[in-house]
Amino acid sequence: MLLTDNMWSCVCALILAFAAHCTVVSGVLSSPANVQLTSTNMNLVLRWDPPPAGAPGDLLYTTELKSTVSQFNPGCVNTSALECDLTSLVISIYGRYTGRVKARRGAQSSEWVLSEEFVLDKQTSIGPPNVSLHSNRANLEVSIKDPVFVKSTLREIFTSATYNITYWKKEQKKELKHINGLQQNRVVLHSLDPWTEYCVQVQVIASAAQKPSMPSRVVCASTTGEKEPPWVGAVVGFFVLAGVVALVVLVVYYWRSFSHFLCPKYAIPDHFKKSLLAPPKSSMYLAMQTSQPVEEFSDQISVVMCSRSEDGSLQQTAG
Ligand SMILES: *[C@@H]1O[C@H](CO)[C@@H](O)[C@H](O)[C@H]1NC(C)=O
Ligand SMILES: *[C@@H]1O[C@H](CO)[C@@H](O)[C@H](O)[C@H]1NC(C)=O
Ligand SMILES: *[C@@H]1O[C@H](CO)[C@@H](O)[C@H](O)[C@H]1NC(C)=O
Repeated sequence: MLLTDNMWSCVCALILAFAAHCTVVSGVLSSPANVQLTSTNMNLVLRWDPPPAGAPGDLLYTTELKSTVSQFNPGCVNTSALECDLTSLVISIYGRYTGRVKARRGAQSSEWVLSEEFVLDKQTSIGPPNVSLHSNRANLEVSIKDPVFVKSTLREIFTSATYNITYWKKEQKKELKHINGLQQNRVVLHSLDPWTEYCVQVQVIASAAQKPSMPSRVVCASTTGEKEPPWVGAVVGFFVLAGVVALVVLVVYYWRSFSHFLCPKYAIPDHFKKSLLAPPKSSMYLAMQTSQPVEEFSDQISVVMCSRSEDGSLQQTAG
């Protein structure tokens, strides 16, 4: 078995050497450069640079992927992009993969260029977690969501993954505080300064990963306090004052219309005045006065208001 493998490698090497020789001789298209497999959150993408020699434009690329247990399978065909997502060709999340790419212009083709072997579960980069903050008085609650993997899950591949949390006051970026090796995806930052804006950044830490994981975006939120902030009193005071002023304006405005309505400009006839000034004699009037004292009282007031400017003696009647 070993012998056969070795023999095959020899044959392949020979063929490759011969092909390379032919390329040089016939001046066929030169090959793409820097061919490499990359991965974030367990996807698998082949990337390359255009051939160093030759004019760019109208170059098309064709890619293939193989694993240690499979032959090359076609990926992108005749793409003009400089990358190709090969995730759909991944047969095992624990596989070792090799990609290859060749360039084509018209009838001319370059040689295949192989990437290095890529151990997907070890070499994938862990993307940023999703962090949200909720402020609760002088505490901040940090909630972390694991990055979503294209294949499998973060916890299945990196079973012992933890979080490193860094936080700081927004105004003092140099004084960083850390919570390292956190296992839960929820933590409360206690005893922070009240009414202060804090910023938080989280990174997933997985010792089995070969590449450092990407830190989350920076999320900021303000703490509140045990008591109302000083400005709440000022705002409440302002609204109370505004309410009182509005009330006074309304009262003044409506009072004017009200008195115009009750105090017509024309003079009250003399005989009517006399009857008004005369002490009440009618039994009906007395009965009304006792049965509906409130209404009568207001009627009397209106009479006083009406006549005040014309006849001072009316005031005494009311008093
Ligand atoms: C890719 O391009 C080559 C040359 O232009 C052509 O012969 C071939 O049919 C194309 N393949 C596909 C799948 O379009
Ligand atoms: C992060 O989570 C929030 C709510 O939990 C969601 O609205 C948002 O889309 C998420 N962001 C990303 C990048 O997943
Ligand atoms: C995360 O925390 C651990 C434990 O304190 C520390 O050794 C490591 O350097 C931290 N990693 C990062 C990227 O800050």
